Amino acid sequence: MKFEIVTIFPDFFRGPLDYGIVRKAREAGLIEILVHDLREFTTDRHRTVDDRPFGGGEGMVLKPEPLFKCVESLGVPSREARLNGTARESVVLLSPQGAMFNQQLAHELAGLERIVMICGRYEGIDERVSEALADREVSIGDYVLSGGELGAAVIVDTVTRLVPGALGNEASAQQESFTAAQKTAAEGPDSTCSSEGLLDYPHYTRPAEFRGMAVPEILMGGNHDQIRKWRRRKSLEKTLRNRPDLLCREALSEADRKLLVELEVEFEKKGIR
Ligand code: ADE
Repeated sequence: MKFEIVTIFPDFFRGPLDYGIVRKAREAGLIEILVHDLREFTTDRHRTVDDRPFGGGEGMVLKPEPLFKCVESLGVPSREARLNGTARESVVLLSPQGAMFNQQLAHELAGLERIVMICGRYEGIDERVSEALADREVSIGDYVLSGGELGAAVIVDTVTRLVPGALGNEASAQQESFTAAQKTAAEGPDSTCSSEGLLDYPHYTRPAEFRGMAVPEILMGGNHDQIRKWRRRKSLEKTLRNRPDLLCREALSEADRKLLVELEVEFEKKGIR
């Protein structure tokens, strides 16, 4: 997997992509990350990348010429080929106006060979970049960052973890929050409503007691059936508490729905929510 990042702050990426799994994946040759300085694609003395907005208004807008020049220099396949899937590459524009990045999109991107990411800055980017250069516009959340660089780093990290061999233990990517739902969702339109896709259950390690807080007894015994049930209940509990929007009741098993009702009664009693 090759990631290419177009930015006016190439040094920004010195830190975040040099640690942990991303670093190991780079060292193992599983991924490659190239960072391109947008200013190198300007033609004027001041290396200008922005200009005032037509129609007036605050702030500056990233000019189209350096962005087109930069991305075209990378030899990406045509936008049409990228859009119809004949090319396994994507040019992604990071912006708060984009489609939301999530684990499902991460899986989709992980199936590609190359991802070029354009980091926006200033008040915006000339819309022709979204219309004719990028094949998708992606946001990492409903908030406005001062640029797309953090978003690009988030995408590199999330997608790298899905590259076969990047995680020491493949099973841990399978078990994480969201994963199952995203996989089923990708399989067909009906399955966006999945009984999986709950948040991950809580994890504990030694010591068994820490500052008076004990690890749940059930995890200390070796009854794997009980442990599995406990984890399922805790997954449901955490999802109900923190992300009720992820719960799709119709898709849950009878047993899960029963658990959910119990948890709701418990929450009610405790005054949660
Ligand atoms: N640039 C500014 N805000 C952003 C966001 N939320 N996601 C991606 N890129 C951005």
